[in-house]
This record gives sequence, C-alpha cells and structure tokens, in this order.
Amino acid sequence: MRFNFWRRYLDGNPEYLAHYYWWAYLAPRGIWFFDHYPIINLILFGQYRAILDEVMRRYAPLQSARTLQLTCAYGSLTPTLALCANTRELHITDAAAIQLAATKTKLHAVSRHATMARMNAEFLAYADASFDSVIIFFLLHELPAAARERALSEAIRVLLPGGQLLIAEYGENRGKHLLHRFTPWRWTLEKLEPFLHNFWHSDLHGQLNRLAAKQGKQLHASPETPLLGGFYRVMQYRA
Ligand SMILES: C[S@@+](CC[C@H](N)C(=O)[O-])C[C@H]1O[C@@H](n2cnc3c(N)ncnc32)[C@H](O)[C@@H]1O
Repeated sequence: MRFNFWRRYLDGNPEYLAHYYWWAYLAPRGIWFFDHYPIINLILFGQYRAILDEVMRRYAPLQSARTLQLTCAYGSLTPTLALCANTRELHITDAAAIQLAATKTKLHAVSRHATMARMNAEFLAYADASFDSVIIFFLLHELPAAARERALSEAIRVLLPGGQLLIAEYGENRGKHLLHRFTPWRWTLEKLEPFLHNFWHSDLHGQLNRLAAKQGKQLHASPETPLLGGFYRVMQYRA
C-alpha cells in the first residue's frame, strides 16, 4: 500500500503523471522548488535562456491570432508568450489543476491573461483547425510512447492550415554526444525520466509526418536548431 502513495495525486490526472512525476508537477513543494530560474537552468545544462530565445525567435514573426501552449512549463515561457506583440489569444491547457493555478499567478504578475483549460493533451477538447500556433515545450519526452503519439496527433489536428507547430525538446540519442555516452549521467536521467529512453531513440520527425499524413495533412519542416551540440533542439513545422 505504502508503495502506492502516489495515488493520492491521481485526482483526475493521467496515471503516469501521478505515478512518475508527482514530485515534479503535482506536489506543491516540488512546484515551489523547481519553478526557479537557477533550478530549471541547471536541469537544462545552462541552456534554458538559449532554448527559450530560440522558441521566441521563431514565434515572434508569426501572425498568431490564436496560440495554444500545450501544457504549462516552469520558467518564463508563458509570460513571454503572453507579452509577445503578435499573441492575440493565448490558450493554455494542462492536466494538472495545480499547474494551471501556478501559471495563472505568473500571468497575473505581468498583467496578462490567458484562457486556461484543464485537459489531457492526448484528448484535446478543441475543434479541428483551431489554432495558428501550437507550442510544445519539453512535454514529449515525459509521455509514454502511446500517449506521445496521441498528443502529437491532437496537436496536428488542432492546427489551422498554414499554422505553425513549435517544439522544444531533447535531441535524438545517437550515442555520439558526450552526455549520451556518460553512462552515470544517462542512467540517472533515465531513472528520473522513465520515458526519455524511448523518446531519445524515436524518430520524432518521421512520426510527425506519418501522423499528419493520416489526417490528410502535410507538415513542412524548417531546419531545426540544435542546442548544446544537439543534446536539445527546437523544431518548427508549418501545416
Ligand atoms: C511541459 S511538461 C515539462 C516542462 C518542463 N519540464 C518545464 O517545466 O520546463 C510538464 C507539464 O506537462 C503536464 N502534463 C504532463 N502530461 C500531460 C498530459 N497528458 N496532458 C496534459 N498535461 C500534461 C504536467 O502537468 C506539467 O505541468
């Protein structure tokens, strides 16, 4: 029984989120701890600002009447999107009510508003072709493979024709990067992030194209930006 203590965090959240990530996203103390710039910057090997800047460099020139940030993120992505001149309507979804509340506080601090909805990214309650931009910031590697497939499919479904999909994530693990070859580090990261191994070895680009084709759509990729020698990447697709 005591091994199932994470069940107290289920509360309508996906089971894998409560089971594997309660300490990072659902426990109030975890949220307080992680949502500090030095902590997230450390977790991202000092690349937080560079990754955020690259997402915004790509986002800022887009005409985006309706923007969807698919799940909350620690740090300043949400306020930065909300303050960006081209953002008209910002929508944010997350499975966790506590994350939405924390994000609301951040927006309040910059006097901005977003439409927030508690929703599982695997089953979005938006009509087809609802958004000009969909932004996914370090969510995919945290999802089990089947959930990732459904969330990607939903992100594509809700994109308007001509809409843009922006993804910030880990790069593929081809066993060449120093951080991929350093076994103790890789082992620790894979223990903390149980679905990262699968993500590292998956073909995200191929998967997106396949899922788009299933919906009779085509995704046009811009060259991706590798960061920290490809350990991270920012990807952009136009539907
Ligand atoms: C965007 S991801 C990780 C972000 C990254 N570690 C950061 O904060 O910069 C974390 C968020 O995704 C949410 N989440 C995880 N699985 C989800 C799902 N299936 N549907 C909706 N939200 C989900 C969590 O509640 C959490 O707020």
